[in-house]
Amino acid sequence: MQGNQNRERREKGKPRLLVTGGSGYLGAWVVRLASAGWDVVATYLTHPRATPGVIWHRLDVREAAAVATLLDEVGPAVVVHLAAVNPGWRGSFADNVTGTRHVARAAAAHHARLVHISSDVVFDGERGNYVETDPPAPLNPYGRSKARAEEEVRRAGGEAVIVRTSLIYGWRPRIDRHIAWVIEGLRGGKPVRLFTDEIRCPIWVESLAAAVVELAGLEYVGVLHVAGGQPLSRYEFGTRLLRFYGLNPGPVIPTSSRDSGLVRPLDCTLDCSRARALLHTELPGVDEVLKRQPPPALGRAINGS
Ligand SMILES: NC(=O)c1ccc[n+]([C@@H]2O[C@H](COP(=O)([O-])OP(=O)(O)OC[C@H]3O[C@@H](n4cnc5c(N)ncnc54)[C@H](OP(=O)(O)O)[C@@H]3O)[C@@H](O)[C@H]2O)c1
Repeated sequence: MQGNQNRERREKGKPRLLVTGGSGYLGAWVVRLASAGWDVVATYLTHPRATPGVIWHRLDVREAAAVATLLDEVGPAVVVHLAAVNPGWRGSFADNVTGTRHVARAAAAHHARLVHISSDVVFDGERGNYVETDPPAPLNPYGRSKARAEEEVRRAGGEAVIVRTSLIYGWRPRIDRHIAWVIEGLRGGKPVRLFTDEIRCPIWVESLAAAVVELAGLEYVGVLHVAGGQPLSRYEFGTRLLRFYGLNPGPVIPTSSRDSGLVRPLDCTLDCSRARALLHTELPGVDEVLKRQPPPALGRAINGS
């Protein structure tokens, strides 16, 4: 049945785009925005989704044969690979390496373009303002898994773009996990500490998804830094978003990552001038996004209803 559906859809003429991890936070927006110009097929692992006009498959990227079979069946022109184990989530970071190996090899074997999402924490954060040619030097297990996943993409040898991005935030259909964690902590009366010396370039999920979809249709290959236009500490970022949601950031405790005893990258800001020159999609900073957008109803944004 699903095979018939796939064949029928292929005749419609739109190029086909496969999104792994379409059920994730960024994935939902990539699926939504890509649907305008692409015949979208998307995958989930534990959170089945239903989106009009989109075919969904369950896929575990740790299973090489399942990945190869799905690519055979779907025959995508482009694969957007978002499936990953992120910090604070269940699963092993090693899956980021094996999963990416399977997806990158299958995409290369099918001559499908690959858009792979990586992270600013492939850098050690000693210097900041990293350009695409700076060598990765990750400090923590998640960063190491994302750096090794990038190597898998290169090794697979297909047409691929590696998008390094930063903290992803947004409130539609629900608040991102970084700020949701802060709000939950404050509501539960727990002390919430945010680092004043960890600097990132947070990116609005809707801008990042638009950039990813634009990149799917371009010929650019290699690494591309795609992040928001305003470097902020985690404290500055968190308190801005709380104010936007009508919450009092007063109880948030500013604290130092350097003095915490934890091994964490400090300044992972990305130089995104190459992306700005290449893409029509704007990459605004947090203040610019929040100035342009009406604040959401908080209850709905937290519950994602
Ligand atoms: N969030 C950030 O701030 C941030 C920052 C930099 C880079 N990134 C990167 O951006 C990408 C998207 O992140 P996100 O925050 O949107 O992720 P997310 O919301 O945590 O979603 C992760 C996705 O991966 C799927 N998944 C996990 N393990 C899988 C497996 N073994 N096989 C197949 N699918 C699997 C999940 O499926 P189910 O939910 O259905 O189980 C979900 O769709 C990831 O590559 C991430 O590393 C994120």
